[in-house]
Amino acid sequence: MTEPTENPAIEVYGLEDRSFPPSEEFRASALVRGSELHDEAARDHEGFWARQAADLLSWRRQWDTVLEWDLPYARWFVGGQLNASENCLDRHVEAGRGDKVAFHWEGEPGDTRTITYRELHAEVCRFANVLRDLGVAKGDRVAIYMPMIPELPVAMLACARVGAAHSVVFGGFSAESLRGRIVDAQAKVLITADGGWRRGKAVPLKASADAALEDTPSIEHVVVVRRTGDEVAMAAGRDHWYHDVMAGASTECAAEVMEAEDLLYLLYTSGTTASPKGIMHTTGGYLTQAAFTHKYVFDLHADTDVYWCAADIGWVTGHSYIVYGPLVNGATSVMYEGSPDHPGRDRWWDIVERYKVTILYTAPTAIRTFMKWGTTEPASHDLSSLRVLGSVGEPINPEAWMWYRRHIGGDRCPVVDTWWQTETGAIMISPLPGATTTKPGSATFPLPGIAAEVVDDRGQPVERGGGYLTLTRPWPSMLRGIYGDPQRYHDTYWSRFEGRYFAGDGARVDDDGYFWLLGRVDDVMNISGHRVSTTEVESALVAHAAVAEAAVVGAKDEVTGQRIVAFVTCKGDQTPGDELGQELRAHVATKIGPTARPRTVIFTDDLPKTRSGKIMRRLLRDVADGRDLGDTTTLADASVVDEIRRRAEAAPQDD
Ligand code: PRX
Repeated sequence: MTEPTENPAIEVYGLEDRSFPPSEEFRASALVRGSELHDEAARDHEGFWARQAADLLSWRRQWDTVLEWDLPYARWFVGGQLNASENCLDRHVEAGRGDKVAFHWEGEPGDTRTITYRELHAEVCRFANVLRDLGVAKGDRVAIYMPMIPELPVAMLACARVGAAHSVVFGGFSAESLRGRIVDAQAKVLITADGGWRRGKAVPLKASADAALEDTPSIEHVVVVRRTGDEVAMAAGRDHWYHDVMAGASTECAAEVMEAEDLLYLLYTSGTTASPKGIMHTTGGYLTQAAFTHKYVFDLHADTDVYWCAADIGWVTGHSYIVYGPLVNGATSVMYEGSPDHPGRDRWWDIVERYKVTILYTAPTAIRTFMKWGTTEPASHDLSSLRVLGSVGEPINPEAWMWYRRHIGGDRCPVVDTWWQTETGAIMISPLPGATTTKPGSATFPLPGIAAEVVDDRGQPVERGGGYLTLTRPWPSMLRGIYGDPQRYHDTYWSRFEGRYFAGDGARVDDDGYFWLLGRVDDVMNISGHRVSTTEVESALVAHAAVAEAAVVGAKDEVTGQRIVAFVTCKGDQTPGDELGQELRAHVATKIGPTARPRTVIFTDDLPKTRSGKIMRRLLRDVADGRDLGDTTTLADASVVDEIRRRAEAAPQDD
């Protein structure tokens, strides 16, 4: 259950009194310049969303009911029928926009592909036919484990076309993580690649996939895209090269007619227990809000903008803002495979300059990395094409916000800090760049059609001040549940505060009503904008033969937001030390993935616990942050803390 284990760390940012109204120049051509959308949504919540659904999407059949709300289950556009891939592709081609570029794709080694809507449509149809030939049908699940190559959106849209739900697993996850997700979803087919490029190296994916597939009886076929050219094992009868199966496939493929509430995809995300949750998103409501937010939060002018979301499609940001939102809106996007420092630290700015990117969407951790690298790199490129900058994934500190605005946006571009989650499916709290006066570090206000409130411990609304962020009305792209676990859905999100969705975040409302997001208040860490569960890392650690007990916390980090610190108690016959520390770090990376690798391992003879035996993570966080310790009287053995602090000071820190 997502219950805050301790008081939320409601920190008050230093008095931030800078504010930035939209410039007259920006406002002059902005889609929204005032409160018109907010006013409309306030007058008629359902009518507002119905208008968006009608304006932004093509429906095979009009819905009968806009919203059925039986807390905690929402059904949007009930009776409506549509297909996601048709909305992303066919209607643009049919409307004469087939030659418009959907993706300017760039591989890390420098290879490029320009893919028009017509070409994307043809490739998706061919691959949808391949999936059908492999026995994939409406209602099935398909796992996808791929690098950032065009075949990834193709695979997703092909699934959508045949009515199968995709479950994309980030390429940085381990074989074991992939296996767990495949088994939970009972996926029938896996789509992967030989590997992908990252920092000049080929990252092997097929080898991980093979390890995962040793124990996934539901998988009948594997399709493998050749990307790096490295040799991989191909299991006869099970594994097929993408280029082989595509060779004879037809470019005609009738799209499956889907109900608005049919499952579009599963995306696994970390919760407060060791097993990730399969977040369920359905078709009509999800596409409506993804497209709505993509259009209005970024002030999209689809005919002229070149939009670049620099996230990985393996996370929800990529689902909503590389694939579905931009394609529904007929946008031209940049998609980049690799790392920002290959071959040089100006790779992003080179991309912005060459493609004349107008809208850039990234994460605070990337911005802070660029800050660390200095201003020379961005200053050596012409970034004057940029007009809107977005941020997502973690709280953005005012300094990073200001740096982004000044050194990337030339003091000219509005910065939109967008708060949302895998569960919300689309942006919930954000400025509208032509209408909202921004404050550095604040996500400002709930979007039109979204109702958010900060509440205190007892669930009472806090009009001004800090507390827990909750959502008080259903929204179209909300999760429809956790795959196979309705009880967990209820317990995690709907039980903490009656009648409210509890996001797991702390937030503060300032005197002007602005929302300031303060980070997680549960046992979920945010490492470079990636959600990692403390419990999941702890379980991985205790699965190691040398470990008796482990407690994991997120400590503050200037670049990655948080870093993982593990406190480990060894079994009696083990020798704690650097060597074992390295082994444990590697062990977690193998079990979960490199993002979950602890930065620091601190060995301790005991862990601080309450009298009821609960590990006191707050205390460990204080130790990890090097802060003074608060009240320790609830400790079973207060001397443990001194010991831990002594060891924390001595422990090696690793990158
Ligand atoms: O803690 C919040 C943080 O990221 C969490 C959601 O993570 P995930 O589901 O992986 O989705 C990330 C991309 C949407 C939230 O609970 N978060 C996300 N955006 C912001 C944020 N925290 C502060 N400010 C944001 N703009």
